[in-house]
Amino acid sequence: MSKVKVALIGAGLRGHIYTEYALSHPDEMQLVAVADPNRERREKFKELHGIEDAMCFETGEDLLALPKLADAILICTQDKLHYEPTMKALDVGYHVLLEKPMSPDPLQCIEMEQKARSSGLTLTICHVLRYTNFFGMLKRLLDEGAIGQLMSIQHNENVGYWHQAHSFVRGNWGNSVKSSPMILAKSCHDMDALLWLAGTNCVRISSFGDLSYFNAVNAPVGAPKRCMDGCPIADECLYYAPKVYLAEDAGWMALAISDDQSEEARLKALKEGPYGRCVYHCDNDVVDHQVVNIEFEGGVTAAFTMSAFTKECSRTLKLMGTKGEIRGAMEKNEIELIRFDKAESEFIVLDDLGGHAGHGGGDAGLMRDFVNLLKVGGSGAALSSAEHSVQSHLMAFAAEQSRVEKRVIEMKAFMV
Ligand SMILES: NC(=O)c1ccc[n+]([C@@H]2O[C@H](COP(=O)([O-])OP(=O)(O)OC[C@H]3O[C@@H](n4cnc5c(N)ncnc54)[C@H](O)[C@@H]3O)[C@@H](O)[C@H]2O)c1
Repeated sequence: MSKVKVALIGAGLRGHIYTEYALSHPDEMQLVAVADPNRERREKFKELHGIEDAMCFETGEDLLALPKLADAILICTQDKLHYEPTMKALDVGYHVLLEKPMSPDPLQCIEMEQKARSSGLTLTICHVLRYTNFFGMLKRLLDEGAIGQLMSIQHNENVGYWHQAHSFVRGNWGNSVKSSPMILAKSCHDMDALLWLAGTNCVRISSFGDLSYFNAVNAPVGAPKRCMDGCPIADECLYYAPKVYLAEDAGWMALAISDDQSEEARLKALKEGPYGRCVYHCDNDVVDHQVVNIEFEGGVTAAFTMSAFTKECSRTLKLMGTKGEIRGAMEKNEIELIRFDKAESEFIVLDDLGGHAGHGGGDAGLMRDFVNLLKVGGSGAALSSAEHSVQSHLMAFAAEQSRVEKRVIEMKAFMV
């Protein structure tokens, strides 16, 4: 197959990112159909990709009611709208690229993986970290035995106070009932990376964490429910919405508040929409800091910390082995390899492949891998196949149960 044909369900931010691949690699991939209830988004995709009228649908359900019209479906709807279209797409015979989290329900994650396996179709999950140069290099160094036998991992997910406020307080993933708990929405990537690096199964897991800051208790005196309703501390507040979203460099965060990027439309969005709310007066309930301790088969241990209270949005890791250490900072694309028998460290500087917005090259790498898989008929295992992802999702569900119930979770018992 020279060029693969794909259809998109959910023409939002992520759908846009993945289908960019068709525009930058027109000889490899073509977007032939799109489904989204938002007419403007549908029209935008239709124009960008030259999609026929008859191939533009209001919903994924409409698209999936027809016989197969592409090789694969990209499912980029919100967290709770992943299961049904995935099951239906597999029924119709599509290979599927599915956004993470697979589903906020562990049983649905298991069912989707089983269905893909029994139908012989690929179900690839968008665990983009596996496709970054950074995590790829960490994995390669471990596999080559650069630090001997891996013993411990320390992994920090520095969310960034501004990113927390945007996505996990005001935004789509602030409320776990509407989307999913933080450990699933944000840190399922990290559970997956830890599982991949450890290279063995997770045995048991424990977690603590809370929503301690972004709540009404910490609201400044007199702060109204919406920033633009005369907030008395507008000048000094880090989160004053007009300062955040009307700034020249608001970038992808401004895109989330309104498809129309004119100042007038953005102001309207701040006056009426969710991103104009005071961060101390939202309906958020997901944690703003959490730790997870993990034991893997063979005794490898991992300590993971997610925190909103960092300036940068970044991931920093330390891998400790019997013969050395690896220290890495993903956003800086830097890895330091320290061998116990050598006086000097070795510094590995990786190419910058897209920074934070492109997940350090992971978004493009995922699409390249997916397209290559489709070119050979979908046979072979994706680096982020559902088979791998189910286990890392279950780790996230178990961590959340541990945090809520304040007890250690044995994975064997959790998975039955
Ligand atoms: N892999 C990653 O690193 C990563 C990063 C951010 C978000 N995500 C995940 O990606 C998913 C999408 O996030 P987003 O930011 O693109 O969301 P978004 O809200 O921008 O896009 C979702 C789109 O789905 C559309 N939609 C709703 N119902 C539909 C239906 N029945 N049929 C077809 N389309 C429908 C909406 O109109 C919207 O345009 C979420 O699950 C999110 O957790 C993954």
